[in-house]
Amino acid sequence: MNRITETIRYVGVNDTSKVLFESLWPLPKGVSYNSYLVFGQKTALVDTADAAFAEEYLAKVKAEAGDRTIDYLIVNHMEPDHSALLGRVREEWPQIRIVTTAKAVPMIAGYHGLTDNIEIVKEGDVLDLGRGVTLQFFFAPMVHWPEVMVTYYAAEKTLFSADAFGTFGVVEGKVNACKFEDYREEMTRYYANIVGKFGAPVQAALKKLSGLEIARVCSTHGPVWEDELGDVIALYDKLSKYEGERGVCIVYGSMYGNTEKAAKALAASLERKGVPFAIHNLCTENYSYAIADAFKYDTIAAGAPTYNSEIFPPVAYFISSLEARCLKNRRFFAFGSYTWAGMSVRKMNERAQKLGFELISEGVSFAQGYSPEKVIFPDFE
Ligand SMILES: Cc1cc2nc3c(=O)[nH]c(=O)nc-3n(C[C@H](O)[C@H](O)[C@H](O)COP(=O)(O)O)c2cc1C
Ligand SMILES: [Fe+2]
Ligand SMILES: [Fe+2]
Repeated sequence: MNRITETIRYVGVNDTSKVLFESLWPLPKGVSYNSYLVFGQKTALVDTADAAFAEEYLAKVKAEAGDRTIDYLIVNHMEPDHSALLGRVREEWPQIRIVTTAKAVPMIAGYHGLTDNIEIVKEGDVLDLGRGVTLQFFFAPMVHWPEVMVTYYAAEKTLFSADAFGTFGVVEGKVNACKFEDYREEMTRYYANIVGKFGAPVQAALKKLSGLEIARVCSTHGPVWEDELGDVIALYDKLSKYEGERGVCIVYGSMYGNTEKAAKALAASLERKGVPFAIHNLCTENYSYAIADAFKYDTIAAGAPTYNSEIFPPVAYFISSLEARCLKNRRFFAFGSYTWAGMSVRKMNERAQKLGFELISEGVSFAQGYSPEKVIFPDFE
């Protein structure tokens, strides 16, 4: 089950209890915190796991390591979902040498108070574990933290990629025999929400790694990718270029149902025309799903009533979230109900234009109730 190759073992854990990852993102399918053992003459552990899993994780590592000691702990990424157990690992294997980037060193001191027996690697450095097992380190700054590096095991053409190519969703059965299709949506939601701002660094990392022969990616969340690795890289490539596919992400918020009626009428008209779409009520749903579809599709239709001369707050927050992620290359359409002085459509348009979005029309700001006569949608073809 945990054997990936003769020299690589999976020692990750599944989290089905956490409600919100980073206290922000719902986990309907859970999440895994992946960690790996690599066996040469010496043994290396790649990353650790979330604090809540100390006992289960350490038991797994010990079971796989058997009577071998663990010589190195490779720290690719310091976000606590992977680094929380660093101190516990050091307690179990006091001689373990931490191998990481210079930028991670103050983080390790700050989180764990550990300052000794740390080896700082430079770009391209190689750690020889013996028996032909070598680990080479490449920096991937801002994917999605500054200290991030990835680790390449040449003989097995394997990349330990930190959060890159990660996804929400637990891993069941053989970790390297999961179907990409089962994870596509959660991978998009993971990418768009957590990594979405860092399209340029992701592109830089993809370019840097394109010179390596990679047959297997072992990321820190979700399955190990082998057969369908091409699809996974293609999805990360598309998302990090901010390329949307044909379709409309409809988002809306509504207090009394008028803007909602317009949103639903738009959805129905797209359905009739055969234009792909998704529709998200930002008042009842966690906004991460809408962000995912804003990254997926090439068009965003946003509906917000006017609220104290502003954009209705949940929709304003959604737009802020797009701004925070520097989303680009989208078409945009705004609509919304008001009662005495409509402001929301104009304000949404202004913010969309600042993002460089192309306005499909000037939008539809309608007074009071919805009717198909009042609200004429532009052509979304
Ligand atoms: C707290 C509050 C503030 C509002 N502020 C404005 C406003 O500044 N300008 C305006 O024209 N309408 C304002 N409205 C009226 C709403 O925009 C109007 O009721 C609209 O039809 C609501 O759309 P909905 O049914 O989609 O929620 C406000 C309503 C509420 C409850
Ligand atoms: Fe992370
Ligand atoms: Fe992570």
